[in-house]
Amino acid sequence: MVICKSPAELEKMHRAGLIVWGALEKMREMVRPGLSTKELDQFAEKYCAEHKARPAFKGYRGYPGSVCTSINKEVVHGIPSPSRKLREGDILSMDFGVEVEGYYGDAALTVPVGKIAPEREKLLRVTRETLERAIDKVRPGNRLGDVSSAVQEWVEKNGYSVVREFVGHGIGTKMHEEPQVPNYGSAGHGPRLQEGMVLAIEPMVNSGSPEVRLLDDEWTAVTADGSDSAHFEHTVAVTNNGPWILTRPREATGPVW
Ligand code: MF3
Ligand code: CO
Repeated sequence: MVICKSPAELEKMHRAGLIVWGALEKMREMVRPGLSTKELDQFAEKYCAEHKARPAFKGYRGYPGSVCTSINKEVVHGIPSPSRKLREGDILSMDFGVEVEGYYGDAALTVPVGKIAPEREKLLRVTRETLERAIDKVRPGNRLGDVSSAVQEWVEKNGYSVVREFVGHGIGTKMHEEPQVPNYGSAGHGPRLQEGMVLAIEPMVNSGSPEVRLLDDEWTAVTADGSDSAHFEHTVAVTNNGPWILTRPREATGPVW
């Protein structure tokens, strides 16, 4: 069952979402060659403590970090480590979620480390644009397949592929609620979107083939062919005034990340 949230509940989710956004913006500023992914994780923990939020990923099915840090061919769920240092030219995906007063926010972005190759710039731009196009479909009366197909179409039109093994999700008083939000599908199909539904939309885009495999740490997903991967995510509410991105300030305009 897809749970619809009241306006008061959406405000609570926005409070959680703003903490996610604030932490990710600070982490994006910290990113530089030589920084370890553990330092980002420690920052996220401290930010949570200061904002009376609980890091939602920590301990989730035994996940050891507060943030997921995935570099280059790593698709999602990379585990922060003191020995994993960022290098000039890398691309880094940072995925972060919190719980505040029983409500969740979840968001992610991929950022360059210093100067990166033009091919990587393009992958980041297209994946961000993919999220924007998907968010634009989050309107009452549209169908879930409209969101999914918007993702798949923009990715494939640009010569990239979408990961099938991981999906976006409903979100609210749990991090993962119904419905699943695949990054592939057909417009005009699936459940209708209704006011108060909240979706975490998270395209995971590979520059090569769509296949992924899991590393021995049993968390880190990498592209099977070693190609680059990018990930952008926002928590988005369906409202009669159009999509409301809960994981950024209300007044924000322009690119979603
Ligand atoms: N954004 C991811 C998701 O919604 C993050 C989960 S990481 C985990 O599924 F460690 F918590 F599993
Ligand atoms: Co998510």
